[in-house]
Amino acid sequence: MADAPLQLEYDNVLSAAVGPAHGLSAAEIKRSEGQVKAAVARIERERKSGRHRYRDLPHDAEMLKLVRATVRRYAGKFENLVVLGIGGSALGNIALQTALNPACHNLRPSKDRRGPRLFVMDNVDPVQFANLLEVIGTGLRKTLFNVISKSGETAETAAQFLIVRDLLAKKLGKKALTRQMVVTTDPEGGTMRDIVEAEGYDALPVPPGVGGRFSVLSAVGLFSAGMCGINIARLLAGAALMNERVSRRAVKKNPAAMLALLLHAFYVRGKRLHVMMPYSHQLTGLADWYRQLWAESLGKREDLDGQPVSLGATPITALGATDQHSQVQLYREGPNDKVFIFLEVEKYARDVKIPRVAGMPAALGYLQGQSLGSLLKAEKQATEYALVASRRPCLTIRFPVVNEAAVGQFIMLWEAATAIMGGLLHINPYDQPAVQTGKEFTFALMGRNGYDKQAKEYERFARRGGKHVV
Ligand code: PA5
Repeated sequence: MADAPLQLEYDNVLSAAVGPAHGLSAAEIKRSEGQVKAAVARIERERKSGRHRYRDLPHDAEMLKLVRATVRRYAGKFENLVVLGIGGSALGNIALQTALNPACHNLRPSKDRRGPRLFVMDNVDPVQFANLLEVIGTGLRKTLFNVISKSGETAETAAQFLIVRDLLAKKLGKKALTRQMVVTTDPEGGTMRDIVEAEGYDALPVPPGVGGRFSVLSAVGLFSAGMCGINIARLLAGAALMNERVSRRAVKKNPAAMLALLLHAFYVRGKRLHVMMPYSHQLTGLADWYRQLWAESLGKREDLDGQPVSLGATPITALGATDQHSQVQLYREGPNDKVFIFLEVEKYARDVKIPRVAGMPAALGYLQGQSLGSLLKAEKQATEYALVASRRPCLTIRFPVVNEAAVGQFIMLWEAATAIMGGLLHINPYDQPAVQTGKEFTFALMGRNGYDKQAKEYERFARRGGKHVV
């Protein structure tokens, strides 16, 4: 059971379930299989020449050894671990922690935790950051910082690093810097690498050829996970299991190929909004991680031939049962332009019984003696039924349990599906030129040398604004 495979169930996207106008027929799926098979085969070929490097991470024994050794060096010595990073350098850490450690991990006394309290600071919100500094203030000596930045130049992470570096040096002396800071960055070059060399920090690599949002199974995600007691070898074993499945040429045996086929077929038909809806709090971080992966990888202006295309589906996250009381009205009766991706858990790690209380009216009485787990499962089934009745296509990804092996599988499933979808859309899923523009203009607005052109352009832009204010 523990390492049982994740399942993708797609009955409810078929025309037999939601009708021919909104569902896919067996013939349509068959027709797309050739194109998907070719995309899978191309990826497998390209892997041999060093592309799609994230696919090798589950088998990288050296990396695992290095991360484990680094974890051993710091484990048990710190009460807080603060990750400084953003985007692909943060979302994976949050996803692993949310899925694989108990909710309210940070609120538990240290004897009931498998590691330090974890804070992943994926923003530069001044109020949030000031609050963090206040919380760890008296325990600064017991706080380890993990700065994660592949480029080493991202303004948000750089600012956080400077603040923390200054704080440690002023409060605890220069020696605290190397004692309490681990830097995860490009092993070969870049600004943060230069700082590591100059100041002597303990460093972990972001593997060359692995972009931020594909890096959770490298030291980027594994260090904080290992520090917090997550079994990172089992996580990688789960990813390796899925790695084999997503290499298969037969689409019906390859869940990533089938996911990409179905979502691409719906994309072509105009269903370009994908709602991922976990029925498990543990899976909410993974849904947020997927949202970045899908959006940043597949939203592209130009195709591989440099032609303007402006492609990409919009990923949305919702939470069952919470969002049944928030968004499902729109999802059932609003525009039929979405595909729903439920995340279902067969066996929740824990359950809570609903007690029997004498004298309850029948309107509440039916719940007595049942459990929250069975209620949440029933909510998923009922919502799926209701959406299908309204002819909305629904997929289900089924976790046997939420453990390291299943989470590793999920991560590899979506990374591979993203690459295959990139192939079907004929775009490069590994770059993010549009994010770059925002980064450059931030540099310009913050006065970085070499960005005068952007600063002037921004001035012109700003002069046009502020005239229509209500
Ligand atoms: O997926 C990506 O490439 C981005 O989200 C990056 O992870 C993010 O911009 C942070 O970049 P860096 O790790 O270079 O600081």
